Amino acid sequence: MNDKRFYITTPIYYPSGKLHIGHAYSTVATDAMARYKRLCGYEVMFLTGTDEHGQKIEGKAREAGVTPQQFVDSIVTAPGGVLDLWKLMDVRYDRFIRTTDGYHVEAIQKIFKAMYDKGDIYKGAYTGKYCKDCEAFWTESQLVDGKCPDCGREVHDAQEEAYFFRASKYADRVRDLLLNTDFLEPRSRVNEMVNNFIDCEGGLQDLCVSRTSFTWGVPVDFDPGHVVYVWLDALFNYMTALGYQNSRYDDLDKFWPADVHFIGKEIVRFHAIYWPAFLMSLDLPLPKKVYGHGWLLLDGGKMSKSKGNVVDPYLLSQRYGVDALRFFLLRSFPFGSDGNFSNELLIQTINVDLANDLGNLVSRTTAMAEKYFGGTLPQGAGASAAERAAAAAAAAGHKVTEGALQGEGCRFDGELIELAAGLRLRYEAQMEKFQFQNALEEIFKVIQRANKYIDENAPWALAKDMEANGPRLAHVLYDLLETVRICAVLLTPFMPSSCGKIFDQIGAEESARTWDSAGEWGVLPAAVSVAKGENLFPRIDMAKELAELEAIQEQERKAALPALEIEPPAEEPVDFDTFCKSDFRAVKVKDCQRVKKSDKLLKFTLDDGTGADRQILSGIAKWYEPEALIGKTLVAIVNLPPRKMMGQESQGMLISAVHREKGEEVLHLLMVDDAIPAGAKLC
Ligand code: MSP
Repeated sequence: MNDKRFYITTPIYYPSGKLHIGHAYSTVATDAMARYKRLCGYEVMFLTGTDEHGQKIEGKAREAGVTPQQFVDSIVTAPGGVLDLWKLMDVRYDRFIRTTDGYHVEAIQKIFKAMYDKGDIYKGAYTGKYCKDCEAFWTESQLVDGKCPDCGREVHDAQEEAYFFRASKYADRVRDLLLNTDFLEPRSRVNEMVNNFIDCEGGLQDLCVSRTSFTWGVPVDFDPGHVVYVWLDALFNYMTALGYQNSRYDDLDKFWPADVHFIGKEIVRFHAIYWPAFLMSLDLPLPKKVYGHGWLLLDGGKMSKSKGNVVDPYLLSQRYGVDALRFFLLRSFPFGSDGNFSNELLIQTINVDLANDLGNLVSRTTAMAEKYFGGTLPQGAGASAAERAAAAAAAAGHKVTEGALQGEGCRFDGELIELAAGLRLRYEAQMEKFQFQNALEEIFKVIQRANKYIDENAPWALAKDMEANGPRLAHVLYDLLETVRICAVLLTPFMPSSCGKIFDQIGAEESARTWDSAGEWGVLPAAVSVAKGENLFPRIDMAKELAELEAIQEQERKAALPALEIEPPAEEPVDFDTFCKSDFRAVKVKDCQRVKKSDKLLKFTLDDGTGADRQILSGIAKWYEPEALIGKTLVAIVNLPPRKMMGQESQGMLISAVHREKGEEVLHLLMVDDAIPAGAKLC
């Protein structure tokens, strides 16, 4: 039996709307970690899911005119929902929990009762503030400018009979856990938790753990009318999904305590204070670690739908590929800190790291192996140092670049081999600390070194005399293929499908794709066969791409606008006499032309029944071709004072109906029955 086990979780998501790239961040990071551990030979349990109860969901369902269950189903299981997103992002979880699953609901009821029986949950009355969006209680003094300190939104007064959890009883143990162990990382988050919530005025407050003002939650079975507070319900998912207090699963002994909960920084409070306190109450082992990662920000601000700047992971992965997007998320930002997301940074990362560095290395190496050796290296390619030295010395008799001819020592070979062969160790040290960015940096140092090695050895120059330099050229290409192989093994947790393609291209068998093999040099057979394939990471034209993204965003913005907008009626009354002063007449269009140098104005020559022509200029060129209006009967107000437009006089104004469609103004000239004679007064 495998005794190397690893249990890792993501936060379970509120299915209250579409997930954005920030949500994908937590899950992709967890997936990379889980894949890394599997690669290292661990039996992994990767749990994710959805947190489906609470006031926010109940409210959203009401707005949508459906039941809460229908509402969450429409976001979790429906096409394009949470499950589809994880599939798209190549997230290979082992278990998915929905807090509406029957086994979880029953388990939560038992858990609540057990804490009540122990005397850690008692009945009281809650008076305070509540943020529906975060499903969080706040005291007046915790608010920032009267708003929720986490999301900045309005909070509401909440006053209701409620059950409370005696968090205060566990304050000392939780403080000790935070200050004196590595339970919470990064360490920078520890003081904030202790100072703001435990050592604050009044100390750690008991937590309200039931609600009576709505019903969408796990019912407290011994007190109808109460539903369990959504955070108590949600946090225990980490254990119920293993079989705690239910018979659906039986993995507790195997996987609890969890090795790490990955969570975003704003929910550290729930995970680092209340979660351990709940577990202490039930005498359960605590998870080994909670890691509070940073946020992806947009223009330095929160990536929230309310700001209209959500970035759609579907759209991005469709355009750049899932692997490129996964890679970008973990390559560009240190996991523990906030990072500024931008389309420009995404494209730049793809171009620099993936197209230029990795993509080029793979395509140049395989192309050269095909061109110079028909795709299969000769037997001696992966030769020993001594054989290499001999080959380099032989090649030295011919004029090639200096680098290739460091003769005896094959200095560059040594440098590259040392760097690549030691990569796994450096990478592992970073991965174990969840420092994905640094782990990737180690890989890319090797990739860059390999690209330099190509230039130093100038294979194209060696190839000019294959008889003399063939063996040396084979060594060079072998070294490159081995380097690519090792890098690809270690990149697999980040870009699983692209690495599979790289392995195919460089002829790496299953045994050359393993964790063990990444710590060794010389795993590919000397006479390895390559198969140059598709260009894995095509370069993106930054300017063109940014313009296209902008156009898409604009389109989306418009699509989100109401289809039809009618201006509300004016509130200010107009007295009858004033109204009667406006002189509206039927007018017939005798001629209509565009006004030179204006893309807005049309010039009308009108019959207004007086016998003299009336000229009116109207800014409607966007909606009408002038010729199409000749002969039409329109309505004009004729007693406005004349005014000049583009140097020409306008004697009145044509009347139009105006509304907005998808944010765009739409205008229709008022046309009346042609039987109405010119000059007829409208009243
Ligand atoms: N339902 C709770 C978690 C309960 S865990 C027992 C929740 N859900 S959430 O849908 O609001 O957020 C899920 C995760 O997404 C959180 O870890 C949150 O920090 C993360 N992110 C949401 N927006 C984010 C960014 N812009 N950037 C990075 N992560 C962010 O909280």
